Amino acid sequence: MNWLNYSEACARNQAVILEQLAPLLPTTGTLLEIGSGSGQHVIHFAATLPQLRWQPTDLATNLPALGANLLHFGSDNIDPPLVLDVTAERWPVSAANAVYSANTLHIMGWPQVVALLQGTGRLLKCGGLLCIYGPFRYQGQYTSASNAEFDHWLQQRDPQSGIRDFEAVNAQALAQGLALERDIAMPANNQLLIWHKT
Ligand SMILES: C[S@@+](CC[C@H](N)C(=O)[O-])C[C@H]1O[C@@H](n2cnc3c(N)ncnc32)[C@H](O)[C@@H]1O
Repeated sequence: MNWLNYSEACARNQAVILEQLAPLLPTTGTLLEIGSGSGQHVIHFAATLPQLRWQPTDLATNLPALGANLLHFGSDNIDPPLVLDVTAERWPVSAANAVYSANTLHIMGWPQVVALLQGTGRLLKCGGLLCIYGPFRYQGQYTSASNAEFDHWLQQRDPQSGIRDFEAVNAQALAQGLALERDIAMPANNQLLIWHKT
């Protein structure tokens, strides 16, 4: 079987993300992924860190392709994918040791970003981690000209979407009891942000 919804970007960034993430993640427990897309990240991470259980999720429309990729390429420590829209009042998982989401905050509208942070704040226990990968602006500035162009393209396609201001996201995270632990500059003008539940 060929991958469905294959992402070249995931193929490029999965190793560098895992290199940063692996030493920070808990050694046991469950990791929830929000907006898994093709599942390439969770499949790569789960194969490399078999001591963790992985729970991929996405919107209902993405589940058939995600499920097919997981069945074909996934390992035993990945649970069947679940439908999770971050705006749902009840999330389909009641506990996780860490939450991971890549390239989702600039696709969602701001209310969805806030819902992701609120839901994560409810889900995580003290010490649990939220790990977010993607592009951000700092003090109103893009980190590169290509990110400014990307943001323009995103907003023309969907005015609700767009590269988020780090400060606004961090303020919302703090309001949910999530304290920033690391802000790691990644290749291709992306960031890996890690918060822990206080
Ligand atoms: C650009 S894709 C990123 C996919 C994958 N994480 C990656 O890095 O390639 C954005 C993902 O966010 C998901 N998404 C958008 N709105 C969402 C919502 N309200 N709740 C959960 N996931 C959402 C989309 O379905 C999509 O899978």
